[in-house]
Amino acid sequence: MARLVIVSNRLLLPGTAQARAGGLGIAMREALRGGGGIWVGWSGDVVTHPADAPRLTTRAGVTYAAIDLSSKEHKLYYLGHANATLWPLFHFRLGLMEYRRDAARAYLDVNRRFAKIIASLLEPDDLIWVHDYHLIPLGQELRKIGVTNRIGFFLHTPFPPAEVLIALPRNEMLVEALCTYDLIGFQTEDGVRAFMGCVTELAGGLDLGGGELSAFGRRSRAAAFPIGIETEGFAALAAQAADSEDTRRLEESLGGRALILGVDRLDYSKGIPQRFEAIDALLSDWPEHRAQFSYLQIAPYSRGEVAQYRSLRREIEQLAGQINGRYAEFDWTPIRYVNRSFSRQTLAGFHRRARIGLVTPLRDGMNLVAKEFVAAQNPDDPGVLVLSRFAGAAHELREALLVNPYDVDELAGALRRGLLMPREERVARWNAMMAVLRTNTVETWSSGFVAALEGTPPPQALRVAGGASG
Ligand code: ADP
Ligand code: F6P
Repeated sequence: MARLVIVSNRLLLPGTAQARAGGLGIAMREALRGGGGIWVGWSGDVVTHPADAPRLTTRAGVTYAAIDLSSKEHKLYYLGHANATLWPLFHFRLGLMEYRRDAARAYLDVNRRFAKIIASLLEPDDLIWVHDYHLIPLGQELRKIGVTNRIGFFLHTPFPPAEVLIALPRNEMLVEALCTYDLIGFQTEDGVRAFMGCVTELAGGLDLGGGELSAFGRRSRAAAFPIGIETEGFAALAAQAADSEDTRRLEESLGGRALILGVDRLDYSKGIPQRFEAIDALLSDWPEHRAQFSYLQIAPYSRGEVAQYRSLRREIEQLAGQINGRYAEFDWTPIRYVNRSFSRQTLAGFHRRARIGLVTPLRDGMNLVAKEFVAAQNPDDPGVLVLSRFAGAAHELREALLVNPYDVDELAGALRRGLLMPREERVARWNAMMAVLRTNTVETWSSGFVAALEGTPPPQALRVAGGASG
């Protein structure tokens, strides 16, 4: 089997940041486990003069190649174009999108710099697998400097339809960069459809059917690869964690009350204010639930230097204060709001104790937390997943209580239904969801993508005669 070279902005170096929140890092760590290969990405460090060569560390057959960013790159590429332009755009939040030409330029420059570094690490048969919106132009930059290896791309976020993408100045460059990959992977068929729409409507390319496309003088393929988790491993971790010190402390603090649990990075895509409002609606419309549950929202700060994230933080703090002020008793508060990361074992134990997993993003590529919640449950007495229709996971976890997260009253009704749901129904729903998670794991996801990439024709054979597009 060819060596795998994974490239992503976020890199989880061995022995550090084990508890860092973020789906991509967790999934990559699982995907590389046992297989070996190279993982290239940002070291997480911001330095005055980034070195030309990456820092290499090898652990358990995996080589980690860490690249530093300068403070200008961090500001314009990571906080700017990636997280203040592309992230809101890809989550359909045009009202939150900012655009700056210097940030768009820095985004391209960082991709070019990454490409040079990666080219120096490559062997002829390596398969290159690029991840996420930070690095869309990377494949094109690698081609420009003569790399002929197969290159695949996977987008962890949603992909917007043409009528949304068109708000991005020079959007055709982004579409062209994506079309340079031999295989372009999305979380769901919605993503594939939206991308095909952009190829045909914005770039004058051709949809050849079956995911094949022709644009910018070459052919490539787009397909859905819904990402999974390490299902059995997470289930075993949760079973072990049921007796851990942290779970015991949580149990004692609940005093026999039901637990509603949310676990997210503090991000406006996650719909956290709407959840707080739903708790308010539940307590106001059905007072019999007062003091009968605790809602624990774990939300470590993320991308705190971006203005939109700072105002979200203020909004949530205010809401939590108001709602707790309205309903708290001297021995009970409805909302516990915690801004820190926890180990995977502690989170697994908390999920297992929860009666309801509240996973209600306004838009999400997949949402691995929804899958982790299901995997962590006790098969004899499982909790209920309340899941947004707009999470990628909703395409697979059909037996969750599916909600429109914008409708706070619907959310409150689903919480009530979850709190009252009889055990037989919870067991039946859980079994159906668990069967899906056992079939589609992080391992099947990554081996499926790699096999599909290996199966694409060699890049040199993909040129289409004539024309810039079509
Ligand atoms: P995103 O990639 O947008 O952050 P996902 O739900 O797909 O969303 O992935 C989040 C990942 O980060 C999950 O694996 C989850 O367990 C982990 N995570 C979320 N919150 C925390 C936290 N407080 N501490 C540690 N890990 C966390
Ligand atoms: O999964 C989506 C994602 O944006 C990843 O690309 C990223 O690693 C993760 O969320 C966490 O965000 P960040 O890397 O900005 O901390």
